[in-house]
Amino acid sequence: MGKHGSTGRKSPGSMPADVDSFRFTLNGAAIDVRGVDPHTTVLAFLRSRGLTGTKEGCGEGECGACALAVVTRDHAGRPRYESVNSCLLLVGQAAGRELVSVEGIADGESLHPVQAAMVEMGGSQCGYCTPGFVVSMFAEYYRPDRTGYDPESIAGNLCRCTGYRPIRDAMRALPVLADGGVSNDRHATCLAKGSTKLESVSVLANGRAFHRPTKLAELWPLLTAHPKALLVGGGTDVVVEMNQRHRREETIIALDGLPELRTFSRTDASLDIGAGVPLREIEERLHGTFPLFDQVLPLFSSRLIRSRATLGGNIANASPIGDSPPVLLALDASVVLASAKGERTVPLEQFFTGYRRTVLAPGEIVLRVHVPLPHPKHGRFYKVSKRVLDDISTVAGAFAVDTDAAGRVTSARFAFGGVAATPVRLAEAERAVVGAPWSEATADRAAVLAEAAVKPMDDHRGSANYRRAMVRELLSKFGRETAEGGA
Ligand code: FES
Ligand code: FES
Repeated sequence: MGKHGSTGRKSPGSMPADVDSFRFTLNGAAIDVRGVDPHTTVLAFLRSRGLTGTKEGCGEGECGACALAVVTRDHAGRPRYESVNSCLLLVGQAAGRELVSVEGIADGESLHPVQAAMVEMGGSQCGYCTPGFVVSMFAEYYRPDRTGYDPESIAGNLCRCTGYRPIRDAMRALPVLADGGVSNDRHATCLAKGSTKLESVSVLANGRAFHRPTKLAELWPLLTAHPKALLVGGGTDVVVEMNQRHRREETIIALDGLPELRTFSRTDASLDIGAGVPLREIEERLHGTFPLFDQVLPLFSSRLIRSRATLGGNIANASPIGDSPPVLLALDASVVLASAKGERTVPLEQFFTGYRRTVLAPGEIVLRVHVPLPHPKHGRFYKVSKRVLDDISTVAGAFAVDTDAAGRVTSARFAFGGVAATPVRLAEAERAVVGAPWSEATADRAAVLAEAAVKPMDDHRGSANYRRAMVRELLSKFGRETAEGGA
């Protein structure tokens, strides 16, 4: 990939701004992208090129019909195929990447093992969802450490007519590759050779600009030159707005090429997660060691989304119903913000200033999230939604309580989403339990205060009364599940 056709004008910094093309690799062949509007998704681009095996169902990351495999690296640095929603991947974000679509999986007339298993088990009826399933199964087939059927691997793929049992049977029928996913077929070879190093991209097309810097030093001048630019992390939220509401911006700056946003460190005293670390990576790194993250991440949409969505994006978009802010508030997290002028740290509680508004100044981004450790003694995340999985919350609650040796509360944080214009902590309810024995009665008293403190709105997901009732119920439930006794 790279920058082709530059005519020499320069954007701020060292990035050429008038390049009109770039390149990615699809099914082993280089694809030139020239003069394509930056709002175009990879899905739309492929289909416009006649590659219609990749389907569009919803255009918002909910069905998986558009799944495409991207060569990435896991947290241990091992290359892997990652199944992502191509309806939410901007074509500029594909620059320099190695992609596999459903057209590239078989070897001529010879089916790939995942395709053969689907045929054998009767996993396809109308077939509309099948390419997406096959791609997700393909990515899973080569996953290092795969030991058998993992339902998460196809949890973001919906099928309306086959029923899931035959598809699950096909997954179960896949042989586990020896040596941690090593195979000697051409896809494994491609995976081993596939480069995941990205180059900076700056393109102008259709009067609109797309930039993907690969270091912060390139980002700052871009933000100075384009203070109103739309910043895109994983794109799993803003690209939905482009697809469904025709959101259009003069300038898009993608942050997914910045290694400074992919940091991850953990000590006895803190956990620091780069704003650009995908949720799937967080899930894998923290699995089994951080109960509140273990509770929230599986409920955060699907693996297809979590492979791209970032913690920083979920915070910076300041949605009152984002899944991660209540958990991070309960964990007393801070955000480290960065701009050309330097860094500052803001408690997350002070970060949200109104409906989808934050303290972020022009030219400033979320660099990383800082979580103090140790993990609270009692912590829970609950999400109320119409479906258990792959849904948006109506109300979410995250709670953290520490107690002393006598079982009295030494600190409490009760955080909610979906009950105000921003994610909130309920200070009065928190204060009311400090010093009291952590019991069901104590939790119930706090729950009454919490219910009275929130002023939710009615909307199509739930009435204000329902939301208030859920606030009370969730906090009481927390008490029932974690109380240490006493009155
Ligand atoms: Fe439904 Fe992309 S088209 S997830
Ligand atoms: Fe028809 Fe899945 S086979 S939607």
